[in-house]
Amino acid sequence: MCGIVGYVGGAEAVPILLSGLRRLEYRGYDSAGVAVLDGGRLATRKAVGRIANLERALSEEPLTGKAGISHTRWATHGGVTEANAHPHFDQSGKLALVHNGVIENHLALRAQLEAKGHIFHSQTDTEVLAHLVGAAFDAQDAESPEALVEAVRVALRQVTGTYGVAVIHANVPGTMVGARRGSPLVLGVGRDEHFLASDVSAIVAHTREVVYLNDHEIVALRGNGFDISTLAGTDATFQISRVEQGAEDADRGGYAHYMLKEIHEQPGATRDALRGRLSREEATAKLGGLNMTNAQLRDVERIVLCGCGTAFHAAMAGEYIIESLARLPVECEIASELRYRNLPMARGTLVFVISQSGETADTLAALRECRRKGHRVLGICNNVASTIARESDGGVYMHAGLEVGVAATKSFTSQLTVLTLLGLLLGRIHGLSCAEGMEILKALESLPDLVTKTLEQESRIAEIARKYAHARNFLFMGRQANYPIALEGALKLKEVSYIAASGHPSAELKHGVIALVSAETPSVCIAPRDAVFEKNLANIEEVRARGGPVIALGTEGDGDLAKVADDVISLPQAPEYLTPLLATIPLQLLAYHIAVTLGRDVDKPRNLAKSVTVE
Ligand code: G6P
Repeated sequence: MCGIVGYVGGAEAVPILLSGLRRLEYRGYDSAGVAVLDGGRLATRKAVGRIANLERALSEEPLTGKAGISHTRWATHGGVTEANAHPHFDQSGKLALVHNGVIENHLALRAQLEAKGHIFHSQTDTEVLAHLVGAAFDAQDAESPEALVEAVRVALRQVTGTYGVAVIHANVPGTMVGARRGSPLVLGVGRDEHFLASDVSAIVAHTREVVYLNDHEIVALRGNGFDISTLAGTDATFQISRVEQGAEDADRGGYAHYMLKEIHEQPGATRDALRGRLSREEATAKLGGLNMTNAQLRDVERIVLCGCGTAFHAAMAGEYIIESLARLPVECEIASELRYRNLPMARGTLVFVISQSGETADTLAALRECRRKGHRVLGICNNVASTIARESDGGVYMHAGLEVGVAATKSFTSQLTVLTLLGLLLGRIHGLSCAEGMEILKALESLPDLVTKTLEQESRIAEIARKYAHARNFLFMGRQANYPIALEGALKLKEVSYIAASGHPSAELKHGVIALVSAETPSVCIAPRDAVFEKNLANIEEVRARGGPVIALGTEGDGDLAKVADDVISLPQAPEYLTPLLATIPLQLLAYHIAVTLGRDVDKPRNLAKSVTVE
């Protein structure tokens, strides 16, 4: 898993590799490492933890060389130790390899190699691959770039699983070999220098000319050129694309954390998600990126929404929103389940995969499986030119801007905005009148201001956070489209504060979870003035009757709620399909302020990665 950056050319490799790794830290930050070739000398530095630790190690003991590979890790096989950090080496110590993916048959391969006398220094699947390539290289007479390519090819034919790899060898200076299957790898074409990376953000500061490698392709890079072939040994055809996106710079803009900054960016992010997509003339949404005519959209009989983590919660909320606006059946699926499930999908099913990064391995696999079955699959992504955006049949960009905090915030509300636009568009095709469409359109136009108004609750929420920060367990509840928001609120709290939290449909509490209610367990209840308000009120009473403290999110000025809850957070008046989005914001702030009170590493919580690129 993880992020890879490689460089070969005329400049010092280390600064280029480090700046690339910093851009890929969203793929993991358990450990990081580099290996650099200086003539025929191969040297490495590794450090547990953030890229900053590796930078420190390199400033204490610098490395020079004009070819190198590097890696930032999210641990899969083997603990978070320096020994398990990449790059890994072969038996001779002359070949270094970095890897993103999982070698599934690593145990059998390790046993075979050990029987031949190979000694391993880590618990990783990757080290097995390094030994395999090294053994294949040593078995040949020549020590040429072609021999290194052949060795990679021979080794990869023996492995099952997924990989994006980069390899260098001390006896083949000036050459780097990369290959991919299942994990993304992009080649950057520069003037007398070439790059390899898990995504373009790592290299876009140096070159805009890239080749997106396909599965089963191998590339050999030199300063002055590159060759791409297939795992089968034939030449591959390729296309050099120009990347339009710049190297977006991340700064905290005066906020203590990226998470807080990104929470406060939501008025702008929702505005950007709506920009140019509302047509007053037709009282509908315009989503040209879907690449579908209204006639084709009319033939859609069922929608499947799919994603992981926060994106899955957006899918769940999207189910309620689209069903209520468009009266179309919607189902949501967790991507990791969908990819292995034989879901019956009739003709007329339109699939949306939702992914902020556009790189999540399970979501990508679900996309491929659905496309393989012949379905049209559209993406709702934030990262332009990400793998999911490129492989889908069309889609809608979120335009949320760069999200750095590992806990997704503005991307979630942007996803909900896009899903509401979709509800409006499909609704206007399937039955909403012009007047109804116009009402929804106007409500959407007011959304950024409603978000701003919700954010004004922050100081009140920070107080509540301090009051409850030392609770060991939280319950979140809501009904209908606010049930997924309860799940998302609980997820945010777990991610950044490490407090146990769970989200539930309010009425479901009495079927077991209510056993957890006690004076020490606060319940966060989402209860705006909607069709199920009285029902929520009754559920709140049930919690109160058992001595559980209640933090309620309700519509501004709600006196009834104030009577039953210990603490109330106000949401502005809004139509029912917009309250889930608005209710999310106080829950983000609650999680943030609790985490800060507890002194947590808010932007890079333990064990997490912003984008999980292994299954
Ligand atoms: C990881 C992140 C989550 C995110 C999920 C899906 O688990 O930690 O915050 O929601 O991946 O990411 P995606 O980029 O596909 O939206």
